[in-house]
Amino acid sequence: MSVEHEKQRAAEAAAELVEDGMTVGLGTGSTVAHLLPALARRGLSLRCVATSPQTEEAALMLDLRVEPFGSIDRFDITIDGADQITPDGWLVKGGGAAHTREKIVAAAAARFVVIADSSKRVTALHPPVPLELLEFGLAATMRLLHPVSLRDVPRSPDGGVIADYHGAVDDPAGLAALLGATPGVVEHGLFPPTLVADVFVAHGDSVEHHN
Ligand code: A5P
Repeated sequence: MSVEHEKQRAAEAAAELVEDGMTVGLGTGSTVAHLLPALARRGLSLRCVATSPQTEEAALMLDLRVEPFGSIDRFDITIDGADQITPDGWLVKGGGAAHTREKIVAAAAARFVVIADSSKRVTALHPPVPLELLEFGLAATMRLLHPVSLRDVPRSPDGGVIADYHGAVDDPAGLAALLGATPGVVEHGLFPPTLVADVFVAHGDSVEHHN
């Protein structure tokens, strides 16, 4: 069974949680690319906020109603992909450089739902952990964060520099606290289990659901 099929199966399962009239946070990435048509097919009246220009454009093409983040300050549900998912619900996100917006939209949701293919299941988190850094003082911030590398991608949608932290991730809570306390780090890609309500991971045709 292909990875794309698994992404589609997980996305379709999560789309079933969405109800008419809901406010919906839309993540970013190739799994969310399957979520958008699954949501559009449901024909519901929704108010959505997108975490990236790519998601916004794709959602609008499908006639989903996308609003600026501001007219909405909380979501009934946010659905997004992940790069790594541990059995206890830690995530690494930001492979697509949108993790800052994704974390804000996840934290604003009553229910944050993660969708993924089976390759995203890991027994323990491993590097790299994506970072968004402020341009001001970048060299000094990178010295504090060593080992870290700049990613060869455009800036985040909000102008931040995208980098990857390559140190150990054995203690995700400790690392999240360290990264969060480092001046110049706008946001890191570690998402704690307390943020995550549901995880849908597809294995072939079947979808495993944890909540
Ligand atoms: C975007 O910055 C990321 O957090 C994505 O949500 C994550 O990388 C999952 O992407 P895919 O669905 O493309 O694997």
